[in-house]
Amino acid sequence: MKQTLLRSRIVHFRDDAVGSPDSALEYFEDGVIGFADGRITLLEDARRAEKQGLDLSAAEHRPEALVTSGFIDAHVHAPQLAVMGSYGEKLLDWLHKYTFPAELQFADEEVSRQNAEFFIDALLACGTTSAMVFTTSFAHSTEHLFQAAERTGMRLIAGKVLMDRNAPDALLDTPERALRESSTLIEKWHGRGRLGYAVTPRFAGTSSRAQLSVAGQLLRDYPDLWLQTHLSENLDEIAWTASLFPEASDYLNTYELYGLHGERSIYAHCIHLSESEQSRIAYAGATVAFCPSSNLFLGSGLLKLQQLREHNIPVALATDVGAGTSLCQLRSMGEAYKVCQLGDYPLGAAEAFYMATLGAARALHQEKHIGNLAPGKEADILLLNGNREPLMRERLRHCRDIREELFAYMSMGDERIIERTYVAGKVAGNVAGIKAKSATCSPRYAPQNHERALTP
Ligand code: GUN
Ligand code: ZN
Repeated sequence: MKQTLLRSRIVHFRDDAVGSPDSALEYFEDGVIGFADGRITLLEDARRAEKQGLDLSAAEHRPEALVTSGFIDAHVHAPQLAVMGSYGEKLLDWLHKYTFPAELQFADEEVSRQNAEFFIDALLACGTTSAMVFTTSFAHSTEHLFQAAERTGMRLIAGKVLMDRNAPDALLDTPERALRESSTLIEKWHGRGRLGYAVTPRFAGTSSRAQLSVAGQLLRDYPDLWLQTHLSENLDEIAWTASLFPEASDYLNTYELYGLHGERSIYAHCIHLSESEQSRIAYAGATVAFCPSSNLFLGSGLLKLQQLREHNIPVALATDVGAGTSLCQLRSMGEAYKVCQLGDYPLGAAEAFYMATLGAARALHQEKHIGNLAPGKEADILLLNGNREPLMRERLRHCRDIREELFAYMSMGDERIIERTYVAGKVAGNVAGIKAKSATCSPRYAPQNHERALTP
């Protein structure tokens, strides 16, 4: 197959940007990236490549743009687009007032199918080429999401949500159904192309002990699955979980008791962990999904990133839409910076981008496939272009180096600066594309709702 060549400024991570930020970031002022058959074939300084005999006359030349690797979102809910930006509640009330009703709509297969297509397009328009995704407790919603992801060729991990108590009846499954439906989905989708399966108990509070046992059984039966769930997000949630599991020593122990704790476990939030919980997460090699937009929006609290670093806990960045208010990981980075500032930990651009690219790939055990632009990796590539936005263009004129440029992108940027997204070497997703697909909406409110809408 013909090699595509793109000559541009290029930046990515060779290594861990937390421990050694200076050597980890590799930047080419005038670089060339080549890809063919879905994989990266070349990454080189353009002049050096020419000296070595490479003909760059056919390369697309974009000196004003910046090429980097696709973003990875370590925790996001596909069925929650409709509840983004819902007013006034903290976690447990937000779930009951907005989120469970929205997920109930997915009983309708057509709603579920259309949402899956829109969600995947929206991710790609935001530069997210890989994600770890919650669907709903309806098995068909997981089926639809995998189908939509497969059509684009993107690398995606997802799972059917397991929940058999403390939510509306129509959203509940049973331990038996959880086992049967998860097994069917795993057999069909796990390891098919670029897709993978995560066992997905929503959180301890919505699963019975029998259902958590089923989740543990699935992980024993299929050791290369992932486990994704929520942990220690909100103080009321923690107290409620303790009342439901008096036998557990703490929140993490509700998962440990059922074999839901290992190096392929991804726990979203982890804001209020004890010292002991942090040590046990570190010992197991499990990952924390840092969801700053969501944590600020729901008023859940501030993740202590520095403490997690001191424990050497892998941390991957995530949007947690629909509690998060944007699908764009640039926005997550900007929110992460604010959370960390409040904890006196000035998060640098290299560390922030690392948590959404190579750091996330490592945490999710995907490093051999994705995370940077090394030849041999899958060609999930972004073309960023800050010149598309007048304010950003003005700010960029004053940047003195690549770190300042990246910091401007994460502080002020969003999907508007993502000019192009490649998935496995093919152009995929753009904002215009998703605008065309979304249904036109002309809101009309009944008078009583109108008042509430204007004065929340
Ligand atoms: N905890 C349990 N379910 C959810 C969810 O859907 N979103 C968030 N942010 N936390 C949860
Ligand atoms: Zn979540």
